[in-house]
Amino acid sequence: MSELRKAYASPGGGVLEVLRGVSFALGAGEMLAVMGASGAGKSTLLHLLGGLDVADGGRARLGEIELTSAGGAELARVRNEQVGFVFQFHHLLPDLSALENVALPLLVARRKPREARAAASAMLEAVGLSARASHRPGELSGGEQQRAAVARALVHAPRLVLADEPTGNLDARAGAEVAALLSTLARTRGAAVIVATHNEQLAAACDRTLVLRDGRVFGS
Ligand SMILES: Nc1ncnc2c1ncn2[C@@H]1O[C@H](COP(=O)(O)OP(=O)(O)OP(=O)(O)O)[C@@H](O)[C@H]1O
Ligand SMILES: [Mg+2]
Repeated sequence: MSELRKAYASPGGGVLEVLRGVSFALGAGEMLAVMGASGAGKSTLLHLLGGLDVADGGRARLGEIELTSAGGAELARVRNEQVGFVFQFHHLLPDLSALENVALPLLVARRKPREARAAASAMLEAVGLSARASHRPGELSGGEQQRAAVARALVHAPRLVLADEPTGNLDARAGAEVAALLSTLARTRGAAVIVATHNEQLAAACDRTLVLRDGRVFGS
């Protein structure tokens, strides 16, 4: 993306310029950490890249798709088909089993239910959760919930995986497991990954680190 800008209207009046011209490129299979103080704009950047919010200026491109000029319907399609999200709190649906949660992105993409279940089952196996496939999120540990969230983010072979503090809620060991899975699976499936985090260890597991400060990115 190049010269990406985003400002918010402050509730108290005035304008808060969160991103003032952010540029970088990321290749398939690459994993990038975005660091920076709380409030620096990490989540804002991820939202723009995932088509969850719209930039005020600059360009963001995902493959040949220009996100910054895409309409609502095209953004929704990109979000569903090309992007996988992992959040700090897993955001799994509480009434669905782990398997059903992981199958969901494929069902949204109108894949046949039987195919979706088979792919979800393979993905659960890849994150070491085959034995928990029928558990609901409330019946999984925090680390298991987050591994299921990683499986869900990758099951539809997205081009881009956006992870916002994916290990923020976990102890060191569970966090390291989730980081390793994200890195291995993304690499083998050729997805680009962007991880927003305060965790140095997680950043160290990435190929590159960018730091957001004063609305701009620094780093390699
Ligand atoms: N919808 C909004 N309206 C107004 N201001 C907002 C809005 N969303 C975020 N902000 C402000 O934009 C700034 C950047 O927020 P953002 O959530 O991107 O930070 P962050 O780097 O992810 O922080 P953290 O590490 O705490 O998650 C913050 O100062 C926040 O208060
Ligand atoms: Mg954030």
